[in-house]
Amino acid sequence: MYIKSLYIKNFRNYREQKIDFNESANVFYGYNAQGKTNILEALYFGAIGRSFRTYKEAELIKLNHEYSNILITYEKNNRENTIEINLNKKETKQIKLNGVKINRNSELVGNINLVIFSPDDISILKQGPALRRKFLDILISQLKPKYLHELSEYNKILDNRNAVLKSKNSEMLDVWNEQLADKMVIINQYRREYVDKLQDKLTIIHPSLTNNEEEIKIIYKTNFTNKENFLELLKKNEQNDLFKGYTTEGAHREDFEILINDKSLSMFGSQGQHRTAILALKIAELNIIKEEIGENPILLLDDVTSELDHQRVLSIFDVVKDYQVIITCTDLAQILQYDSLTKNIKLFNINSGKVLDNS
Ligand SMILES: Nc1ncnc2c1ncn2[C@@H]1O[C@H](COP(=O)(O)OP(=O)(O)OP(=O)(O)O)[C@@H](O)[C@H]1O
Ligand SMILES: [Mg+2]
Repeated sequence: MYIKSLYIKNFRNYREQKIDFNESANVFYGYNAQGKTNILEALYFGAIGRSFRTYKEAELIKLNHEYSNILITYEKNNRENTIEINLNKKETKQIKLNGVKINRNSELVGNINLVIFSPDDISILKQGPALRRKFLDILISQLKPKYLHELSEYNKILDNRNAVLKSKNSEMLDVWNEQLADKMVIINQYRREYVDKLQDKLTIIHPSLTNNEEEIKIIYKTNFTNKENFLELLKKNEQNDLFKGYTTEGAHREDFEILINDKSLSMFGSQGQHRTAILALKIAELNIIKEEIGENPILLLDDVTSELDHQRVLSIFDVVKDYQVIITCTDLAQILQYDSLTKNIKLFNINSGKVLDNS
């Protein structure tokens, strides 16, 4: 799979821009704050239906403008496809897949499969559980469109249950408990399945990044075993939930943990161990997607040379030799030293929201 072209209008600092990509390596270079990450953001937004930097879609629209358009042409299973997203400050966004309007994000996600690696990703392992759930949810959603749908159903039920909790009206709780538990069964099963898949991949990938010196484990942290037990848990927490005004247990609170040589990474890991673990997770994600869709996903690399050392960058470029990679950097010379990329590379210079195709 590869992205053929991107057209953006009034997106971030771009007025109007068309970019034609190469099937292998594409490098966007330029000074800070010129619009390099904005290109990756537009691609990511087209694929996932949300930004990796903000959940406020209005921020994506160029300042002092009312709307923004993104059009992506990509090839998958030897067929050309298009995704078009129109953002408008006053209306909800419109998405078209091959010209046909779609109404749900779950119909969008999974058409373009991609993995992004950005300097902020280190927070996935360092900060609270929300980013880890998001990592897992986006991985699963790309492969199982049904999952994203179930997750949004779960969240709707959760909102309803929380509203009841806030109103301190416990009579209605049983109805929502039952529905929440039904969705919980499905979500928990998917998440466990994909954590197991990540473990299988990490077992192979991580030793190769650490000279076989460290053993990595990924553990899904959940109190869930089955529906009945979850219903009991909700009952047990009821007074506490009513007091707090929200649901304290469920898929929206779960987490995964990484252990290195049986010690918690988040508690005891060094900066380097965090970087290696996140890199291993991303490569694991790439491998899982590739295996399940039978095509290479696209890799977006935002400023990796600033975050990862030479050896780790080398490991990524080695893995993705046959993939389409879209890279941003400030120092082009640094990227050009990697032989595995330079064979088929397309260069773009970015300056003040304008892309110069240097091929
Ligand atoms: N909605 C918007 N309208 C206009 N300009 C915007 C908007 N959002 C962001 N920008 C501008 O986009 C630029 C930042 O773009 P981007 O994050 O892509 O930079 P970058 O080239 O990746 O920089 P760095 O090397 O520092 O990461 C800034 O100049 C910012 O002011
Ligand atoms: Mg940037």
